[in-house]
Amino acid sequence: MSTILEIRDLKKSYDGGFEALKGVNLSIEEGEIIALLGPNGAGKTTLISAICGIVMPTSGSVTVAGHDIGTDFRAARTLIGLVPQEVALEPFEKVINTVRFSRGLFGKRGNDPLIESILKRLSLWDKRNNQIKELSGGMKRRVLIAKALAHEPRVLFLDEPTAGVDVELRKDMWEIVADLKADGVTIILTTHYIEEAEAIADRIGVIAKGEILLVEDKDALMQRMGKKELEVQLSAPLDALPASLQSEHVRLGADGDSLIYTYDTRAERTGITKLLSDVAAEGLVLRDVVTRQSSLEDIFVTLVKEDAA
Ligand SMILES: Nc1ncnc2c1ncn2[C@@H]1O[C@H](COP(=O)(O)OP(=O)(O)OP(=O)(O)O)[C@@H](O)[C@H]1O
Ligand SMILES: [Mg+2]
Repeated sequence: MSTILEIRDLKKSYDGGFEALKGVNLSIEEGEIIALLGPNGAGKTTLISAICGIVMPTSGSVTVAGHDIGTDFRAARTLIGLVPQEVALEPFEKVINTVRFSRGLFGKRGNDPLIESILKRLSLWDKRNNQIKELSGGMKRRVLIAKALAHEPRVLFLDEPTAGVDVELRKDMWEIVADLKADGVTIILTTHYIEEAEAIADRIGVIAKGEILLVEDKDALMQRMGKKELEVQLSAPLDALPASLQSEHVRLGADGDSLIYTYDTRAERTGITKLLSDVAAEGLVLRDVVTRQSSLEDIFVTLVKEDAA
């Protein structure tokens, strides 16, 4: 895979001196989906806006397929589609014209078959002759996506595409994103829904206070974090872990009166049945059983809290 977006030491201070981006570095591979998670005010929209030429970076560089956004802006911008966080559409315009116009903005020749396929994919074809003001909120979000796709971008930014959207439309949106990925489009999305990142991203980035705290392959991250612990509390403490229970997944609790078993929540077999039968075979008597789970959400909260400390 090749790098399509390269962000180097990107900084942004707004007028008044507030530093919204404090030196962001990020490389994005062609065809991947990366989800940026971060609390309100973390700098997600600022980052996207800086890449798309909506805000002027204070320093640092961004290249899109080798085109520098400072020195070669038009070439870079043509490769980008942006679905902004705020819905801003002309209320009296017809859906199809809004989308056609977006293509024209990039100097691309009219292509009605393409516009038709985009509108159909977004289930907007039936509404093509409706005015924007006649659409529901979720439909307006789809129009924003259609507009962003009209000039055939290779990189698509989705800034909270599913905020305030119902569960069904959210799932639709995930399918649309998966389709676009299948076409080779690179997607960068921001979200507050951790399950959304879990569902569709290849990589997860966590951003807080203008800094990237972590960027990691989702599966690796989930494997690292998606662990569960089962604590088997014993009625009498042990001096050592019995030989029959020894494994990399089992350890003795601090006071010796509990066994702590770590397992992967996503594995088909957790091994709990075997553990409990081994415990019974050892003749150990149980007092209680407790489970604890570390989720992406926990880790996210921990990361962001640590950063705030
Ligand atoms: N035009 C502006 N002038 C001054 N400060 C700004 C401006 N735009 C954003 N900021 C500040 O920069 C910080 C980052 O804002 P940004 O919109 O990038 O956050 P975000 O991560 O997108 O948050 P959210 O999840 O709420 O959308 C915030 O503290 C915000 O108040
Ligand atoms: Mg934002």
